[in-house]
Amino acid sequence: MLIFLWAESQGHVIGFRGQLPWHLPADMHYFKTVTMGNTIVTGAKTFASFPGLLPNRTNVIVSHRPASDFPAEAIVLNSLDAVRAYAAERPTEKIFVIGGAQIFAGLIDDVDYLYRTNIEAGFDGDTWMPAIDYSKFQLIDRQPGVRNEKNPYDFTFEQYQRL
Ligand SMILES: NC(=O)c1ccc[n+]([C@@H]2O[C@H](COP(=O)([O-])OP(=O)(O)OC[C@H]3O[C@@H](n4cnc5c(N)ncnc54)[C@H](OP(=O)(O)O)[C@@H]3O)[C@@H](O)[C@H]2O)c1
Repeated sequence: MLIFLWAESQGHVIGFRGQLPWHLPADMHYFKTVTMGNTIVTGAKTFASFPGLLPNRTNVIVSHRPASDFPAEAIVLNSLDAVRAYAAERPTEKIFVIGGAQIFAGLIDDVDYLYRTNIEAGFDGDTWMPAIDYSKFQLIDRQPGVRNEKNPYDFTFEQYQRL
């Protein structure tokens, strides 16, 4: 199953200058907990924002470039159709599509679940979550995050399932 996992701030901002616009350790912890042991699918630009492969997860990178441009342990897929085929061959696996915007936009009609962190603050951005028709999904879980010194925003974790 394909699951989108992302965080967005006001105005659907998800990125700025190749990075996340915010520092929110509670969301990073959530990301790690949810994806651990599963597969993550990342666009090449988002992958470039990481220090390297994410440990204890199968790392799939979407790029037009050859696999030899990436770490040997990564699975490199050269098209979104290849991602669809990869997921179709593994129907019981949780496959987390973790962005960025190009990858989300291309797979929006294929996704089964949406895991969205809403950050209720405004940030400068240059990358936005593509429009999603939420009438095609139902909210199945909603948990408020804990605002504190290290996580100085209101934020909420939501999960939606395709109807
Ligand atoms: N807030 C969040 O939850 C979140 C999540 C993820 C990312 N982000 C942010 O989003 C920004 C990056 O997003 P982005 O949209 O610019 O880039 P992206 O989606 O991460 O990566 C784009 C790259 O993916 C490859 N690609 C895209 N479509 C493809 C296709 N159909 N076939 C083969 N390869 C394809 C291409 O790589 P090649 O050029 O190598 O061919 C393309 O340059 C960063 O700021 C990042 O921090 C935020």
